[in-house]
Amino acid sequence: TTAMEQLQQQVEGLNLNAITEFPNCYPDVNPLDVYRAHLANVLTEVTGVDKNIIYPALSWTQSLDKGDLVLAAPALRLPKGGPKPDQIVQDWAAKFPENDPLFEKPHVHSYFMSFFFKGAPLVNSILPTILQKGKTFGTNPSLGLKDPKEPSAGRKKIIVEFSSPNIAKPFHAGHLRSTIIGGFLGNLYEGAGWDVTRINYLGDWGKQYGLLALAFEKFGDEKALEQDPINHLFQLYVRINTEMTEEKEQIAKRKEAGEDVTEAEANSLDEQARRYFKKMTDRDEKALAMWKKFRDLSIVRYKQTYARLNIHFDEYSGESQVSEADMADIGKQLEEKKISKEDNGAQLIDFSELVPGKEGKRLEKPLVRKRDGTALYLTRDISELLARHAKYNFDKMIYVVASAQDLHLKQLFKIIELLGHKDIADKCQHINFGLVLGMSTRKGTVKFLDDILRDVADKMHETMRKNEDKYNQVENPEAVADVLGISSVMVQDMTGKRINNYTFNMDQMTSFEGDTGPYLQYAHARVCSIKRKAGLSDEEIASADFSLLTEAHAVNIVRLLAQWPDVFSNTLRTLEPTTVLAYLFKMTHALSSSYDVLRIMGSEPAVLKARMALYEAAHIVLGNGMRLLGLSPVERM
Ligand code: ARG
Repeated sequence: TTAMEQLQQQVEGLNLNAITEFPNCYPDVNPLDVYRAHLANVLTEVTGVDKNIIYPALSWTQSLDKGDLVLAAPALRLPKGGPKPDQIVQDWAAKFPENDPLFEKPHVHSYFMSFFFKGAPLVNSILPTILQKGKTFGTNPSLGLKDPKEPSAGRKKIIVEFSSPNIAKPFHAGHLRSTIIGGFLGNLYEGAGWDVTRINYLGDWGKQYGLLALAFEKFGDEKALEQDPINHLFQLYVRINTEMTEEKEQIAKRKEAGEDVTEAEANSLDEQARRYFKKMTDRDEKALAMWKKFRDLSIVRYKQTYARLNIHFDEYSGESQVSEADMADIGKQLEEKKISKEDNGAQLIDFSELVPGKEGKRLEKPLVRKRDGTALYLTRDISELLARHAKYNFDKMIYVVASAQDLHLKQLFKIIELLGHKDIADKCQHINFGLVLGMSTRKGTVKFLDDILRDVADKMHETMRKNEDKYNQVENPEAVADVLGISSVMVQDMTGKRINNYTFNMDQMTSFEGDTGPYLQYAHARVCSIKRKAGLSDEEIASADFSLLTEAHAVNIVRLLAQWPDVFSNTLRTLEPTTVLAYLFKMTHALSSSYDVLRIMGSEPAVLKARMALYEAAHIVLGNGMRLLGLSPVERM
C-alpha cells in the first residue's frame, strides 16, 4: 500500500481532490504530501485562493512547538488594498473547519497560520507506512525520472566525481572530505532514483610519475611495494624529491662558481624524470608498465579503505586516461576560436579579453599548453569533461573538490562554454568545501587516511573497554571500534555546512557528549537493544494497535518521523549532509527523552507492542538517515 492508501484506510473525510495535479506531490511515498494536499483543498474553500498557490506555500517549521506546517499569508499573493494579512489570517482561522480529520484549528501569530497534526490519525497512518516501507522510507525514486509522466522514458543520469587522490602522495584532508561528501551525494541521488555513476579521477600523471619510476629503479623494493604500495611509493617519492632538491642546489652552487654544468644538468634527476615521462606520454610499453603497476597496486589499497567507508567507484579514471589526441584537438579548437593565444611559445587563455567586466579579471590567465608542448591539469580536465559527456551523455555532473580549486573549476566550466558547449557547462556543478585544520596522526604529521582511521578506532576501542559488561557482549569489538571511529570522523566532517572550515579534534569527535558520531551510533544501538529485549517479531510489531500511542512524547516522535521524506527531498536542494544530520540529532534527542516516559519493560502487552512499533519506526528512520550519510549503523556497542 502507498502512503496515501494507508491514510485513506485510517482516516475518513480526506479532501484529496486533484491530488495528482499538485506540483512535487508524491502521495505514494510521502505522507506529508497527502497532508499538504488535503490542507490546500480545505484552505481553498476557507480563503478562496487557488489551491495551486496554497500548496507550495505550505512550509515546514523549525521546531515542533511552531506547528507541523505553516502558511505565511503574504505568500498567497493577496490582492492589494484588501484587509491586512494579520487580520485576514484571524478570519481564516475562525472559518477553519472545527473537526477537520487531520488538523487541529490553526494557531495565528502575526500573518502566519500554523497547523498542528491531530495525533491519532497521524500515528495510525505514519507508523504502518514506515514499518511497511522499511529501508526505502524517505527515498523517492520518481524524482530521477526524465519525464515523471512517462516512466518508460528512463531515469536521469548523474556523474559524481569525488575523492580523486594523487598516487604516491598523501591522501590529505581535502581528499577525505571529498570522499565523505561525494559518497553521501551518490547515495542521495540514488535514493532519488537517478542513475548514478561514481568516478574517481586519480592524480596519476605528470613528470613526478617519471621521477617516481626512477626512484623505484634506484631504491625500490618489490615486496614492500606489493605489501604496502601507498606507503612505499610515498617513501620513494619523498626520498627522490629530497635527492633532487639537493642535486639542484649543488648544480646551482657549481654554476655560481663558474663551472660548466651542462653535463650535470643533462644527467640530472629532473631531466631524467622529464625524459622518462616523455616516454610514458609516447606510450613506451616498458615505461608505462612500471607506472601501471604503481597505479594498479595503489587502487587495490584505495579500494580497501573505501570499503571501510562503504564507498565504491564505478570507474577509476584519472589524469593519465585523458587522450593526448583529444587534447591536441581541443588545443586547435581553442586557437581557431580565438579563445587561447600564444604567449612566448606557450598557449594561454586571457579571460579578461573574453569575458567582460570583473568576471573576466577574476578568471585570470591560465596556461593550457606549456612551452615544451605538455598539457596541464586544466587542459586534461577540459578533455576529460567532454569525453565524459560523450561517453555517458549525463544530465548532471558534480565535482566534489575543495574550495581551494574554485578558480580552477570556474575556468574549466567557462572554457567549455566558450568552446560552444554552454548546454554541457550548465549541467556541471562544483560542490566545494572548506579546510580541515590541525589534522595530524599520533605518529607524525603525514596524513594518510588509514593512519587516521586507525588512531580514531584505537581511541574508540579504549572507550569501549571501559564498560566491561557491555564490551564482552560485542561480538567483534575491533570491527565495531573501527565503525565507531569512522563515524566519529564522518559526523564531525558533516556537522557544519560544507563550506566551513573545521578543526580536526579527536577528543571532541570521539566523545559521547554532544552531537557526535558515537552518540548517534549509541542512539541506534539503544533502539536495537530495546527490540532485542522486547523479543517481538516484525509481524507482531506490525500488528500493534497504534492508537494506544496517545502520550505527547509518542506523538512528537511520530511528527518528527513523518518529516523524514521532506528532509530527504530538501537535502536534494541543499546538497548538505548537515541537513540530514541535524534532523537525525533532533530525532535522537526526542527519542532519548522519551525512554523514561514510554517504557517497554513492565508495560501491558498491548501497550508494549505499540511502543515497540514506535521505537521500531524510529529505528528504521534513524538507520535510513545514517546509511544515507554513509555510516554503518551498529546494533551493539
Ligand atoms: N587530484 C586532484 C587533487 O588532489 C583533485 C582532482 C579534482 N578533480 C578534477 N576533475 N580536477 O588536487
